[in-house]
Amino acid sequence: MTGGDFPSALLQWFDQHGRKDLPWQKNRSAYRVWISEIMLQQTQVVSVIPYYNRFMERFPDLDVLAAAPIDDVLHHWAGLGYYARARNLHKAAIQITQQWGGQFSESFENILSLPGVGRSTAAAISSIAFKNRQPILDGNVKRVLARYHAVEGWSGERRVSDRLWQLSDAQTPYERVDDYTQAIMDLGATVCRRAKPHCDRCPLESNCQAKQNGLVSQLPTPRPKKKIGEQNRFMLILESSEGLFIEKRPPTGIWGGLWSFPLVDDVSAVTEWFKARGITEEPLIWMPKRRHTFTHFKLNYQPVSGLLKNPPDCVMEASQGVWYKAATESVYGFPAPVKRLIEEYED
Ligand code: ADE
Repeated sequence: MTGGDFPSALLQWFDQHGRKDLPWQKNRSAYRVWISEIMLQQTQVVSVIPYYNRFMERFPDLDVLAAAPIDDVLHHWAGLGYYARARNLHKAAIQITQQWGGQFSESFENILSLPGVGRSTAAAISSIAFKNRQPILDGNVKRVLARYHAVEGWSGERRVSDRLWQLSDAQTPYERVDDYTQAIMDLGATVCRRAKPHCDRCPLESNCQAKQNGLVSQLPTPRPKKKIGEQNRFMLILESSEGLFIEKRPPTGIWGGLWSFPLVDDVSAVTEWFKARGITEEPLIWMPKRRHTFTHFKLNYQPVSGLLKNPPDCVMEASQGVWYKAATESVYGFPAPVKRLIEEYED
């Protein structure tokens, strides 16, 4: 890596070609940046702009949003999709009013604690609104970094995601971090596109490892096609003073009707699940992968465990499940791999 070249080339490009007149770039405030980042999570800039302007007219600041009925918020979201984002915005506005005295916190950890705000969104808000040096890693940035550094492997895997975060951190500059954040997202969206990227217009082309090695069309590595007869999951082990969190499986599918630790598909679903229960990433323990053979397929699963410090009842609100204490007589039907894990926790 040629230290410093990457951010300075990107910033130079941004000065000439970056987007600088988007509505949330004017009258910049944490509130305005936060709303824009939530809207932009699953939606492209051009689609967001009219919604953003209407939203800001109706909810010009945090107090207005927090005081509004949720139906009014949802009405202004209608058409943008992913309505959980609107519900989370409203919930977060109320939280900021009640817990932070109506003032948007500058602390990264506080921003990350808001409903609907994951690690990359928290970093985007922190860097754009407060100029704090925080690396981001949304879909666009993953693509830029995976190509520039020729990182192979699917980013839904822990190893690959860790590597990309590490590279994002290493490239993030100490100066002009707000512009840098916007620049790398813009580059990903407009130049380093998934299909038909404009390498000829890219300020990073001369040092891009994918370009030099003819790998541009192969990177970033897509989610691997499921091998016939194999499934991959993460198994979420949440521990509290009340025991281990278990759920009843849906009647059909893997372990239908039995009790199990929750199962999810990829790394971001793991971190989101724990985050929703007040557990950040650092204390999570990623255990070695295991494999279970069913009659007709194999299940590869990686247990990930986290310890809940909050009162356990806060979890019960969010999901349907129970705390299992091994000492009590078991009335739960567990599949063998779950039983084995529970026994490991008893040791
Ligand atoms: N996607 C997420 N945040 C964005 C931003 N600030 N600009 C462009 N695209 C984005």
